[in-house]
Amino acid sequence: MEKQVLDKLFVPYLSKADIHSAIEQMGQKINADYEGKKPLFIAILNGSFMFASDLFKQIEIPAEISFIKLASYKGTKSSGSVVTAIGLESDVFERDVIIVEDIVDTGKTLSEFLPQLMHQQPRSLKVCALLHKKEATKFPITIDYMGFEIPNLFVVGYGLDYNGYGRNIDQIMQIAE
Ligand code: IMP
Repeated sequence: MEKQVLDKLFVPYLSKADIHSAIEQMGQKINADYEGKKPLFIAILNGSFMFASDLFKQIEIPAEISFIKLASYKGTKSSGSVVTAIGLESDVFERDVIIVEDIVDTGKTLSEFLPQLMHQQPRSLKVCALLHKKEATKFPITIDYMGFEIPNLFVVGYGLDYNGYGRNIDQIMQIAE
């Protein structure tokens, strides 16, 4: 069934079942890879709230989760915009950190944020993203745990928004062409 979000029409793309089974697999892989460790998940708001919640429920090893927002402001001409993390209360020093992101599009956000986090010397730093628009890559980053590679088309639902709306849709929908 099509759905209207503000002025745009969206069609079903990934069902609840598709999403659930991808997250189950990602969770199992993380459980195995981090056995004997106590990872710290850092979920990037707003978009990742649903994904982070469902992924975290699949985690069976001892783990913590923290939610942050990234705010960008204009830096100097050479550095372009700079992102800062708001709300990171946990100390990442010598922690096994897993970043939880809803979607990696151009890769800009994480390519700015990951080096900043590295300054705080985590023991390890990995990225878990539900969606990746590979064709849209401008700033290549390594995604260690990925749900779906998707075409370069706008999607909403399951936490992802179109101008603030559509986050409550329980599946992922693609813009109708
Ligand atoms: P990047 O910095 O270009 O990788 O963009 C990452 C951010 O852009 C995500 O965290 C989303 O907030 C947003 N974004 C990119 N593509 C979409 C989309 O198709 N739907 C909704 N949000 C998107």
